Amino acid sequence: MKTEILSHDYITQATKLLAAGDLVAFPTETVYGLGAKASNEAACQKIYHVKGRPADNPLIVHISERQQMEQWVRTPLSGLAAALTEEFWPGPLTLVLPALDHVNPVVRGGLDTVAIRMPSSWIAQQLIGELGHPIAAPSANRSGRPSPTTAQDVRDDLNGLIPLIIDGGACREGVESTVLDLSQELPILLRPGSVTLEALTAVVGTVLLPGEHTVARAPGMKYTHYAPKAPVIWVQGNKSNLSTLIECIKSEVWGSNDWYGIMALDEIIDAVRMEGLPLTDYYGLGMSDHEAAQRLFHGLRELDKNHPKAIFVVWDQTEGLGRAISNRLQKAATRQVKV
Ligand code: TXA
Ligand code: MG
Repeated sequence: MKTEILSHDYITQATKLLAAGDLVAFPTETVYGLGAKASNEAACQKIYHVKGRPADNPLIVHISERQQMEQWVRTPLSGLAAALTEEFWPGPLTLVLPALDHVNPVVRGGLDTVAIRMPSSWIAQQLIGELGHPIAAPSANRSGRPSPTTAQDVRDDLNGLIPLIIDGGACREGVESTVLDLSQELPILLRPGSVTLEALTAVVGTVLLPGEHTVARAPGMKYTHYAPKAPVIWVQGNKSNLSTLIECIKSEVWGSNDWYGIMALDEIIDAVRMEGLPLTDYYGLGMSDHEAAQRLFHGLRELDKNHPKAIFVVWDQTEGLGRAISNRLQKAATRQVKV
């Protein structure tokens, strides 16, 4: 199969493919999704096959209008759910809600809940709107790889496996949506994202973290994630301990004839670059947590291209959006070093 990358001028063509049970990759504000018509079980099965995704890891159902939810979850929504959708939809917040009995079991991965999100990306909205039906979509990467934030990232993983990628440029957020489980008594944050824990708490009061008084988890959490081919070493430090941080990286690469990659906020990258380490690629994460989130996955993919022995990622923020970045690094890293 030939995989075409086409602009948003081809949304109608994409819609026809989806209606016929084919898969289409499309941009959202978070990452690129691999979409199928959500009620079509055979099409949703293809998603698992193409991604190499375990069958018990459910998909997110993407909607463009609230009423599309009525086929999937009981309405009206609970007070908490209504308040959250009012505040954060359309946007990067996915809600896990009790599913109606008849809902496509392939999408649910066998659970009695279903994850719903209303993306803010206009291309995603238009695609769902023209199809007139929700689109089930995980991130458009091969299972275990970093999520794709450009059309080319998608093609690098799925070339020849899907007919069409709609190119909407680089995704604005860069990390996947926040996933909040509302099927239990209290909301549980299953995956941190750019709708932050702090922002959620401001709307709903208490939000539990997995492991905190609860065994709830997203099935996806138990699998390897976000990993490039090279091992990722997560260096937990910042510019206040720059010299120790540089020594730490130097001691790892010293005397080696292998290639390495280093990723960090620009200020730190500039300082490390001055050391003139041989055989090293650098990737700047910008100047803010927002830029860092946007660049993280693409950076891992870029640094991986020279087949480095390891990729060092310097990061230490755990609040706000920093929590989402730390969460992805936790899963991607084979080793963590505190400096
Ligand atoms: O930003 C995003 O959410 C992107 C774009 C394409 O929308 N999608 C995405 O999907 O990241 P995926 O499949 O890569 O991640 C969905 C996560 C998985 O960890 C999955 O286990 C969890 O959501 N999930 C889905 N349905 C669930 C459910 N019913 N209960 C608990 N967790 C669920
Ligand atoms: Mg994913």
